[in-house]
Amino acid sequence: MADETKTRKLYDRIADVHNVALKVNRYRQSVTKYLRSLNLDLGPEPLILDAGSGTGIQTLGLASAGLNLRRAVALDISHKSLKVAREQFHRDRIPDAARIDVVQGDMLGFPFAANTFDLVLTCGALEYVPLADGLAEMARVLKPGGKLVLIPVKPSVVGTVLEVLYKFKTHKVDDVKRVALRHFNIVGNHTFPAIEPMSWSKRIFLLEKKHD
Ligand SMILES: C[S@@+](CC[C@H](N)C(=O)[O-])C[C@H]1O[C@@H](n2cnc3c(N)ncnc32)[C@H](O)[C@@H]1O
Repeated sequence: MADETKTRKLYDRIADVHNVALKVNRYRQSVTKYLRSLNLDLGPEPLILDAGSGTGIQTLGLASAGLNLRRAVALDISHKSLKVAREQFHRDRIPDAARIDVVQGDMLGFPFAANTFDLVLTCGALEYVPLADGLAEMARVLKPGGKLVLIPVKPSVVGTVLEVLYKFKTHKVDDVKRVALRHFNIVGNHTFPAIEPMSWSKRIFLLEKKHD
């Protein structure tokens, strides 16, 4: 079975449990707080993509950050995760939740034209694909000067446990930086505060797509 099919089947099976775990750990609030602390300067009504969105917790984190978005797209290969995401977007009270579209697709070949998005966020998904291919595809769909909020799993004890549970491979931080520099400037390098559970497994880079 191809890796992508295995991953899709895994998340079709565990979407509900994964969603509860993220809620308990307040991942959405951590992401919103971080985004609100930035001056992202995206221009009016930005178009936003959450690549490997899963059940849409981080998409809602983005939609809660006051970015005045035109539309956001939550993209994932797992049909069940997107079903949970769609239900959450419907139930959520923030107005921007109604501006989120759900697309089933592969982050190694987005069904979008080049230079489409003002911001792409990806959290814990790049670990399923080759680093260079995943970052190149995100760079392709971002406008020049567009932002990538990259939230990789950091190599750590918790990261190792997650690798076993979720069947992915953590990328080395130095590799992430080196490969990212082919397409992006690194404009932020944030570690979540230790009291936020997100800090136990994730760090966050803010990247800006280079102009040609
Ligand atoms: C650890 S979950 C993270 C979900 C979400 N970003 C979050 O933080 O809640 C990883 C997600 O990546 C998705 N994924 C893995 N490989 C993918 C691919 N090639 N294309 C699109 N989504 C993918 C999985 O289906 C899963 O929903």
